[in-house]
Amino acid sequence: RKVTIVGAPLADGQPLLGVDRGPTFIRKRGLVQRLERDAWRVEDLGDLDFEMRSGLGRQEDFAEGAAHGSTKRAKMVGHANRILYEVTHEHARQDKLVLTLGGDHSIGVGSVAGALKGRPETAIIWVDAHADINSRNTSESGHLHGMVLSFLMNLDNSRNMKGFHWLNDESIPVLLPTRLVYVGLRDLDKGEKAFIRSLGIKAYTMHEVDKFGIGKIMEMVLDHILGRTDRPLHLSFDIDAVDPLYAPSTGTRVAGGLSYREAYYICEEVAHSGCLASMDLVEVNPTLTMAGGDERTVDMAVGLISSATGNSIL
Ligand code: ARG
Ligand code: MN
Ligand code: MN
Ligand code: MN
Repeated sequence: RKVTIVGAPLADGQPLLGVDRGPTFIRKRGLVQRLERDAWRVEDLGDLDFEMRSGLGRQEDFAEGAAHGSTKRAKMVGHANRILYEVTHEHARQDKLVLTLGGDHSIGVGSVAGALKGRPETAIIWVDAHADINSRNTSESGHLHGMVLSFLMNLDNSRNMKGFHWLNDESIPVLLPTRLVYVGLRDLDKGEKAFIRSLGIKAYTMHEVDKFGIGKIMEMVLDHILGRTDRPLHLSFDIDAVDPLYAPSTGTRVAGGLSYREAYYICEEVAHSGCLASMDLVEVNPTLTMAGGDERTVDMAVGLISSATGNSIL
């Protein structure tokens, strides 16, 4: 089988620089060699060029610039995601495994939109400390990495936001609430809780992980979105789902996360399902180094990708 690697070096969905270098660090740690060792034919497209020629600076104008109301850098994030969407769609259409390396989680708009257009039956497993489902009306921060699912589901008419009009295309299916399941949640905004409840989205928070154990959780996750039908799975893995003890180099750390083995187990079960079609690994920011922090976090990222793509222990 063929895997396409796409680097999405975007930091504009949140305020900290460094996360745009995630793909570079992950490659340096030997991702391509790992995948080749596991018998994948690897095509690495390198990092996409998201620069806007219109003079929008980088972090200096984070607060104003392309802001749509209180939403920060919408034009830049929308522009980058449109490019990513076109690339991921093209490769999904060719029946390849598409692996997107972030970048902050806002790149999920493009990677998932591309997956949904290329394979409309796709279901999403969102592994994260956060729900990333704010709309511009509910977001307290204005950071687009916290609003990804509202675009994909078109909540509060998000697809009409400046920078995101390209999403208003009938060939890009709107993500249905039944096609999404969360694992690892522990830090939600008020408006996000309301969306999840009213839409009836299946959410396994850390409370359920404690209660049932990760084995049972993954059975329920796969049963919910696959049941008896095999459909393409998109795994969107935010490294901040993992406890900061094991993955400290990330911008929005939340204590009480997945253990080392729980994180790996999720990826191993996704591999066992045989349905993985696309994956994001996001929010790795090795420049936020606490002593020894970056290596652990980048190693974890490479290891999780390797497990999800089928490298088994025995
Ligand atoms: N809920 C918060 C917000 O909307 C935090 C989001 C963090 N998202 C992430 N992908 N790390 O700003
Ligand atoms: Mn997160
Ligand atoms: Mn996230
Ligand atoms: Mn299994």
